[in-house]
Amino acid sequence: MERKWWHNKIAYQIYPKSFMDSNGDGIGDIKGIISKLDYFKELGIDILWLSPIYKSPLADQGYDISDYYDIDPRFGTMEDLDELIAKGKELGIGIVMDLVVNHCSDEHEWFKKACEDPDGPYGKFFYIEDHKEGQPLPCNWRSYFGGSCWEKLPGHDDKIYLHVFHKKQPDLNWENPLLRREIYKMINWWLDKGIAGFRIDAIINIKKKLPFSDYPADRDDGLSSMDNMLKEAVGIGEFLGEMARETFRKYDAFSVGEVFNEKDSELPLFIGENGYFSSMFDFSTTHLDEESKTRYEEKEITASEYRDAIFANHKRIEGIGYLSNIIENHDEPRGVSRYIKTSDLSEHSKKALAGIYFLLPGIPFIYQGQEIGMENLKSSDIDSTDKLDDCANADIYNTAINAGLPEKDALNVLIKHSRDNARTPFQWSSEAHAGFSTANPWLLVNPNYKKINLEAQKKDDDSVFNFYKELIALRKDPEYTDTFVYGKFTPMYTDMDNLICYKRTGDKTIIIYTNYQAKEIDIKLESPIKTILLSNSKEVRFNEKELHLNGYDLVVAEV
Ligand code: NOJ
Repeated sequence: MERKWWHNKIAYQIYPKSFMDSNGDGIGDIKGIISKLDYFKELGIDILWLSPIYKSPLADQGYDISDYYDIDPRFGTMEDLDELIAKGKELGIGIVMDLVVNHCSDEHEWFKKACEDPDGPYGKFFYIEDHKEGQPLPCNWRSYFGGSCWEKLPGHDDKIYLHVFHKKQPDLNWENPLLRREIYKMINWWLDKGIAGFRIDAIINIKKKLPFSDYPADRDDGLSSMDNMLKEAVGIGEFLGEMARETFRKYDAFSVGEVFNEKDSELPLFIGENGYFSSMFDFSTTHLDEESKTRYEEKEITASEYRDAIFANHKRIEGIGYLSNIIENHDEPRGVSRYIKTSDLSEHSKKALAGIYFLLPGIPFIYQGQEIGMENLKSSDIDSTDKLDDCANADIYNTAINAGLPEKDALNVLIKHSRDNARTPFQWSSEAHAGFSTANPWLLVNPNYKKINLEAQKKDDDSVFNFYKELIALRKDPEYTDTFVYGKFTPMYTDMDNLICYKRTGDKTIIIYTNYQAKEIDIKLESPIKTILLSNSKEVRFNEKELHLNGYDLVVAEV
C-alpha cells in the first residue's frame, strides 16, 4: 500500500456547538476551539474534524448550509477560522471541514432562485417535480427524519421538491454537471485556504435510482426505507471519481467518507489505492442494535457481536484500504453506554473499549468527550421531550407512540436513542454548566458532569483520559508505530465468548487481549509474552503459558 501522510494520524471530532463557548451565549464557537488547541497538543491529536460551522439556519445543526463560503455568526467569523487553521498548522494539527453536498439549506440562494424560477438554471440544481393535490407522489421513500421525502415547493402549489433528510435540506441534483462544477469550485476554495481535508457527509445519497419509483412499504406509514432505493442506485462512481480528480487529489488532501450501504464490489473504488476517498468510517457496530430501535426490545450488544462485527469489517477491507475507527460520533449514542453492559459500566471497562478500537488498523477518531468517558443521558434526567433538541427526535418518539407505547416508555426510547446523547456540552469541570459556558447552554448538560469532567479526569492518574493519552503515546511510539499503522491484523480466540483479542504483526508482534466481561478468566498463550506495553490493570499476572485476566482487563503485549 502506498504510504500516505494521514495513515499514522490520530483524529478528533469536534461538535462545535457543544465544545466550548468563548462569548457566553450558550453556544460553542471557533474561539472556544482555539482556546483549547493546547489541549489537543497535550493529547497528541493530529487532525481535527469540525462538524459544520458554515452559515446555516441550524435546522439540522449546521448540516443545512445556506452559504458554503461563510461562517455562521453563532460560531464566529472567517477570521476566527483562519486563525484556527494557522494556529493548528503551527502545532502540527490539520483542520478537516465537513463537506455537506448531498443537500443544502432551503435558505441557500440556489434554492431561493429555484423557487423564483423552477424552470430556470437553479431549478435544475434540485429535484423538482410537477405535482397536483391528490395525485400520487413520484415515490414513497421515507425521509431519514420521518415522513415523505417530498415537500411543496414554496410559492408553487403545483410543484414539489425532494429532501431525503429534513424538509429544510433540499437534495442537490448531482446529475447536473453545472451543480457539480459549483461544488468542486467550492471544495477547492477551501483547500486553497489550507485545510487538511474533508469529512464527507451522506455521500452515498448523491446517487438516486431514477426515474423515481415506489418500493415496498416497511412501516404503517406506507413509506419505504431509503436503503431499498440505495441498493438499486448504480453509477455513483462517476460522480465520486470526478470529484476526487477535480479536488482532493490535486491537493493530496485527506478525505473520509460517511459511507453507508456501499456494495462490496465498490470498496476498492472507494478506499483502494487511488480510491475516491482516503478512508471511510467503520460503522459495522452501529447496526447491531438497529432493529431493537423500532421493535422496542431491550437489547444489550454482546461482546461477541461487537467483536465479530469489527473483525469482519476489517477482514473485508484487508488489502484494499484504510478504515477510520470510531466508537461514537454526533449521530450515535455514547459508545460506552452502548457497547458496555449497563451493569458493567466503569472507568475500567471504558478503558477496555478504548483499547480495543484504538489499536485496530486504520485511523482512530475520538469524538469529543469520549476521552473523558462521557455517557448517555439517563431516563431520570429528562421528564419531557422539550428538554431535547434534535430534529430526528420527533420521528423516534412518534413512531414509538404509534406503535402503542405509553408516553413515558416512548420518552425512554427517545432518551436511549436520541442523537442528543452525544451532543450535550463537553464536561470541562464541575463548575456551573460544566465549565462549557457562563450562560445556560443551548442543550442541557448531562447531570453527571460533577463526577465526569476533564478537570477530575486530569487529576486522576487512573482515569479514562490518562488512558487515552497512553494509548495515543503507544500508537505514536517510534518503536511500535509502524506495526500499529501497517501491521497485519489477525483475529484471535474467536471461538471463545467475551474475549476480544487480535494480533498486529509488523516489525514487532503485538497482541491485544481483552476480557470483555465481569468474570475473570485464564487464557492459554499462543506465544510467550515479552513485554507488557500497556494495560488498564495495575498488575498483570502471566507465566510462559497462561495469562490471567480480571473482568474487563485489557493487556497489550509484545510477544
Ligand atoms: C449525516 C450527519 O452526520 C448528520 O448529523 C446529518 O443529520 C445528516 N448526515 C444529514 O446531513
